[in-house]
Amino acid sequence: MTEGKSLYPVIEEVGSAFSAVLAALQGAAFAPSARWQEKAFSELFATPGVTALLGSIDGTPVGFVLARSVADEAEILTLAVSPSCQRRGVARALMEKLMTLLAERETERLFLEVSVNNCPARALYTACGFTCAGTRKRYYEDGSDAEVMVREISSSSGK
Ligand SMILES: CC(C)(COP(=O)(O)OP(=O)(O)OC[C@H]1O[C@@H](n2cnc3c(N)ncnc32)[C@H](O)[C@@H]1OP(=O)(O)O)[C@@H](O)C(=O)NCCC(=O)NCCS
Repeated sequence: MTEGKSLYPVIEEVGSAFSAVLAALQGAAFAPSARWQEKAFSELFATPGVTALLGSIDGTPVGFVLARSVADEAEILTLAVSPSCQRRGVARALMEKLMTLLAERETERLFLEVSVNNCPARALYTACGFTCAGTRKRYYEDGSDAEVMVREISSSSGK
C-alpha cells in the first residue's frame, strides 16, 4: 500500500464467521480497555438486526463498521480502521456504504455515540453529515462524556 494515497477498499457484508477478523481489526485500532473479544462479536451476530461491513485492500482486511437496526432506526456499535491505513478514506467509504445499505432497508435515522475526546471520529462523523443530538455524562469507563450524533439517511443517501 502506497503511503498517504487514498485507498478504495472492496466492501462486503460479513457475518459471524468473520468475528475473529473484526476482533483483530478492533484490537489494533482501540486502546486495550475498549477492545472487544471475538466472542463479543459472535454474540452480537446472534442477535437480530446486526449489519457488519468489512473493507479490504488486495484481500487484506483494513477496516469495518458494525451497526444494529431496530425498526426504522439504526445505531453504529463500533467502527475501526487499521492504524497503517488511517486518514486515507477507508472509514468514509465504509460509512457511505453503510448509509446506502440502510437506506435500501428503509432505515430513517442512524445514531451513534462517540467520546467527546475522540477528535478523529468526531471529525469523521461530522464530515459524513452527523449532527449532535445530545450528550451522555460519564458514559465511558475513563469517565469521559459521550456525544450522541444522528443523521437522517433515508432520502439523502439512498443512491
Ligand atoms: C475514527 C477512524 C475510524 C477514522 O478512520 P479513517 O479511515 O482514518 O478515516 P477517513 O480517512 O475515512 O477520514 C474521513 C474524514 O474524517 C475526518 N478525520 C478522520 N481522521 C481524522 C483525524 N485523525 N483528524 C482529523 N480529522 C479526521 C476528516 O474529515 C477525514 O476527511 P479528510 O481526510 O478528507 O480530511 C479511525 O481513526 C479509527 O479507527 N480510530 C480508532 C477507533 C475509533 O475511534 N473508532 C470510532 C469509535 S466511535
